[in-house]
Amino acid sequence: MAKRSSSKKNPFVGYPKGWFVVAFSDELPVAGVLKMKYFGTELVAFRGESGTVAILDAYCPHLGAHLGAGGKVVGDTIECPFHAWKFNLGGKCVAIPYAKTDPPKIPVKAVTRAWNTVEKNGCIYLWHAPLGGPPEWEVPTLDVWGDEAWLPWSHSMLHIKTHPREILENVVDKGHFPRVHNTNITKFENEFTDLLAIQRSGGVAYPVGGGKDEFEITATYYGPGFQVSHMAGVLQTRLLNAHVPVDEHSLDLRFGVMIKIVGGNAEKTKGFASRYVDNLTKGFQEDVAIWENKCFRQVPVLCDGDGPIMKLREWYAGFYDDNHPAE
Ligand code: FES
Ligand SMILES: [Fe+2]
Repeated sequence: MAKRSSSKKNPFVGYPKGWFVVAFSDELPVAGVLKMKYFGTELVAFRGESGTVAILDAYCPHLGAHLGAGGKVVGDTIECPFHAWKFNLGGKCVAIPYAKTDPPKIPVKAVTRAWNTVEKNGCIYLWHAPLGGPPEWEVPTLDVWGDEAWLPWSHSMLHIKTHPREILENVVDKGHFPRVHNTNITKFENEFTDLLAIQRSGGVAYPVGGGKDEFEITATYYGPGFQVSHMAGVLQTRLLNAHVPVDEHSLDLRFGVMIKIVGGNAEKTKGFASRYVDNLTKGFQEDVAIWENKCFRQVPVLCDGDGPIMKLREWYAGFYDDNHPAE
């Protein structure tokens, strides 16, 4: 990790460094293609016939077609929709169908950038670093992924016109929970390390459909892009809260839940999972109404009941330090 920024200038310019969830695995089947835009860059994700996922800069080095708009998977390559050049998982052109020579003389520059990608825990993660460079830490393994006693992810996504800083700040913003989420917080502890922001909290929530839920939750951000929560309660759950910047003004927020199958009844547990995702969606939508209309107070006026907003910002700013190398 770079040293944390102490600049008085807004440190949250550009994009942070870290792993970001750009899809749940089931969004990209074998031979599937996804057109994406993240970090202000047009991208294509594809899963080769071997099952391996690649994410490449989308514009073909030949005459600029978007590989995600009509590109087709052939073996472990993606075939451009324009002149059918084929690019492998590393982004290198390996076939030109109408080249005059056999084997074809492939131009050295017929390469498109391949991003560092990892598939793990039922998610596809992309490494982003402002100055390039290889991943600096590993995606942690989710303890219950692949365990047959648990359902896989039930998940959803929201496209939100806000800065990613708001998603992080939301977690430590203790004061908004009663007003925005109708939730009373009784325990609220936050710990920050170089890589992790860990929160242990508890309280009472009043979910959609009535009733009340007492909860106890440990929520850990692994770098700036995603948070995994362990919730204690009647249901055993893991939650994922993951966002990735589309550009500097908008992001995709993916979230999901894994639940341990209750009483051997997977169907009934699926019903719980679906209601859980509905509740998560509703909770985020409550925030979205604020996020899409607020401004950024770089020097906010805080009171003694507020959560550790400035500590969170200092932690988060550390992931943007490569954007400010001269400071
Ligand atoms: S633009 Fe892709 S093969 Fe020509
Ligand atoms: Fe919130």
